[in-house]
Amino acid sequence: MPRHVGIIMDGNGRWAAARGLPRLEGHRRGAERLFEVIDACIDLGIGTLTVFAFSAENWKRPQEEVSGLFKLGEWLLRAHLSRLHRRKVRLRVIGDVASLPDFARGPLLEAVEASAGHDAFTLVVALNYGARQEAAQAARKLAEEVVAGRLRAEQIDWTVLESRLDTAGQPDPDLIIRTSGEFRLSNFLLLQSAYAEIHIAKEYWPDFGRPQLEAALDDYRSRERRFGMTGQQVQGAPPAP
Ligand code: IPE
Ligand code: IPE
Ligand code: MG
Repeated sequence: MPRHVGIIMDGNGRWAAARGLPRLEGHRRGAERLFEVIDACIDLGIGTLTVFAFSAENWKRPQEEVSGLFKLGEWLLRAHLSRLHRRKVRLRVIGDVASLPDFARGPLLEAVEASAGHDAFTLVVALNYGARQEAAQAARKLAEEVVAGRLRAEQIDWTVLESRLDTAGQPDPDLIIRTSGEFRLSNFLLLQSAYAEIHIAKEYWPDFGRPQLEAALDDYRSRERRFGMTGQQVQGAPPAP
């Protein structure tokens, strides 16, 4: 079982368009789906789920869609907070949270703080997140530390860089799932996914539930993760002549 699963929840707009519904209705249905997937992850013993909810590039969408998404997020949090508490879910956020609208940021940060003691399961929401922006911000922090004399440039290795990313302290994702049949990462956890297995689900996100998650996990279990080694090494067999 993967310790950490990341999901790029894509296809809400096409799901709605296929039914002659407004895009926001697709987002609403998609958002409801998330709670089914969270429950399934907890039941299956996955420790961390990171979901891509809003990318740093999604600000380019029509303004009504952007504001509708934030209103939806705020409403969802209110509607599902007690359920998350009951299931001992620790909530974390990655991305540039400071630039979110006040009405969405306040309750979100409160929920993050209130759930800090939970350890059964971690839900990480990537909001206004972009992996390149995250990397640039980490580089900036390191540069400031070097200038201030707290760090020497030659001390910077992956472990040091990693500890300045938004995801510091979290395990790398083992499996990245993208729905809606698209084969790309769209600026999601680029550095952390260096050795993640990738599963593309053909369903649009509002059609993704427990059976589709189980299919993704079956696919994951069929992979041989080699991390640069040979297949024989991974299988513990004697080296090939
Ligand atoms: C994913 O669904 C949700 C967000 C990006 C917020 P989309 O809105 O991207 O749906 P499609 O890709 O247009 O179908
Ligand atoms: C990625 O989906 C972002 C989220 C799922 C939040 P997009 O729909 O924004 O990605 P592109 O633009 O098709 O690559
Ligand atoms: Mg999309």
